[in-house]
Amino acid sequence: MAKDLKVSRKEFWDERYIQGSMPWDIGQVAPAFIKYFNENLLLNAKKVAVLGCGLGHDAFFLATYKERNFEVFGFDFADSAIKFCNGLKEKNNLSNISFYQTNFFELTKDAKWKNNFDYVIEHTSLCAIDPEFRKEYVSLIKYLLKPNGKLIGLFFIKPIELGGPPFGSTSEEIRELFTKDFTEVEKLHPEECLHKEKLQGNEYFGVFRKKE
Ligand SMILES: C[S@@+](CC[C@H](N)C(=O)[O-])C[C@H]1O[C@@H](n2cnc3c(N)ncnc32)[C@H](O)[C@@H]1O
Repeated sequence: MAKDLKVSRKEFWDERYIQGSMPWDIGQVAPAFIKYFNENLLLNAKKVAVLGCGLGHDAFFLATYKERNFEVFGFDFADSAIKFCNGLKEKNNLSNISFYQTNFFELTKDAKWKNNFDYVIEHTSLCAIDPEFRKEYVSLIKYLLKPNGKLIGLFFIKPIELGGPPFGSTSEEIRELFTKDFTEVEKLHPEECLHKEKLQGNEYFGVFRKKE
């Protein structure tokens, strides 16, 4: 049974956005995602889920990427983050992006999301949840992805004993979590990140493909 950690309550995150206290927010798309998508040519339309999308930097990057072939779905339970994202969507008149204010664990209750996405983007969201829910988070990603769909992840790596959020992990733990149902197609590796004192040196990029 999971502890009643504050991170499992949407109010905790909402207040961070209201107070402007978001050390994880780099104010732009993570360079690792730009590099990945630039190097992996995409021809067909693709559906993407961004879990814990925050202020939507990664989601908007994908929605406006090249030929705009992505249909992007951002999920977050912080009302103010979703309000911000919807404002930006409207301002930029984008029709290929939508945002959902929801606890992403609830998505498995709706069959319409099952096997629905070509990609799931994870960017410091695994480290934001109660560590006891990590297996459930992996099951959620498995539920959302089509067979052969890919998780494109930027993970926070640091000893979990230091507490959180962000709650750290190890590259071994990340591999272990995904090993049963996914194949590691881009090996987890340290990635230079733009976060200042909090995350610098602790982010790992990796790509996991859902097995058929
Ligand atoms: C550390 S922030 C990362 C935000 C964004 N990915 C970024 O890198 O800027 C974690 C985000 O996940 C959201 N979040 C945490 N648990 C969630 C849950 N169970 N359901 C939906 N969103 C959640 C929080 O509201 C927050 O916006």
